[in-house]
Amino acid sequence: MNTSPQSDLEAQRSREGLARRFPRAFVTGAGGGLGLAFTECLLNAGVRVWGTTREASRLQALSRRHGFTPVVLDLEKGDAAEQAFLSAADQAGGAFDLLINNAGFGQFSPFVDAEFTSWSRQLDAMLMTTMRITHLFLGRLRDRGEMRGGIVNVSSVAVDFPLPHMSGYNVAKAGLSAFSESLIFEMRGTEVMVVDFRPGDYRTAFNQSMSPTALLTRRPGLAPIWQRLEYNLNTAPLPARAARDLERTLLRGKSGTVRSGSLFQTVIAPFLARFAPLALKRALMVRYFGAS
Ligand SMILES: NC(=O)c1ccc[n+]([C@@H]2O[C@H](COP(=O)([O-])OP(=O)(O)OC[C@H]3O[C@@H](n4cnc5c(N)ncnc54)[C@H](OP(=O)(O)O)[C@@H]3O)[C@@H](O)[C@H]2O)c1
Repeated sequence: MNTSPQSDLEAQRSREGLARRFPRAFVTGAGGGLGLAFTECLLNAGVRVWGTTREASRLQALSRRHGFTPVVLDLEKGDAAEQAFLSAADQAGGAFDLLINNAGFGQFSPFVDAEFTSWSRQLDAMLMTTMRITHLFLGRLRDRGEMRGGIVNVSSVAVDFPLPHMSGYNVAKAGLSAFSESLIFEMRGTEVMVVDFRPGDYRTAFNQSMSPTALLTRRPGLAPIWQRLEYNLNTAPLPARAARDLERTLLRGKSGTVRSGSLFQTVIAPFLARFAPLALKRALMVRYFGAS
């Protein structure tokens, strides 16, 4: 890695470019994991960030940082989330320049074993409320009379390789990536960049929210799959790497799909999957996850 004074200066100049282009950002799920890494990266560049959590205490440390404003927002409560976004936008002068739709959660269960309401809640939160906030974000840009800014939808490589027993998550992320693709088309000819950001595994608390202990007691046959998911997360890169990838993408200023993570998950596996027959890809997934 080059860390000469000159390269430090260049990195500093690039970061300042980020704050010039996106002076005010709204980041969902800023309290931990990838959202925290994105938020710290933006704050380091001088971007003012409004970051969300469901539990205000999670943002105590960030709230001491210059340029950070905490926002309480639960994606499962659509109307209240809309109000929280709008009052934050008012505080920011009417509109944000950058929206990072990062918040999300998994649910690990065979589809039929979980109550259907738990799947629909997940889709409502991760897809419908996220689209709703994006609609408000774009509406405010239109009202400002300047279609200039950025939208980052944090999707997943689960779009390329759907995760076993996570049907709601797979559908939400596939929908989110389709939404990004629609916006990329619609925002041609404006200065709004749209990024379909697909992380591979990153070492965060993501799996903790799923707590499948009771399920694994009832269905011990699922244990190897869960162990593989845990292993992948625990040996994955740290979130700072995803933040560096996102920073580079924002500085490049171009809409598109970005895969971020280990070389295997983001380059080798998608490349092989593009040429392998679907039946072979499915068989390899069963083997990879040790599914019976
Ligand atoms: N880690 C990975 O390997 C990985 C891979 C691909 C994609 N992703 C995606 O990256 C994003 C961030 O995940 P992470 O890995 O950083 O996991 P994480 O550490 O569990 O963070 C998830 C964030 O989402 C927020 N959140 C969860 N449910 C919410 C709800 N109902 N309303 C509002 N906010 C909610 C949480 O905020 P509070 O708890 O503070 O409210 C938390 O900050 C997610 O969309 C995830 O699907 C992660």
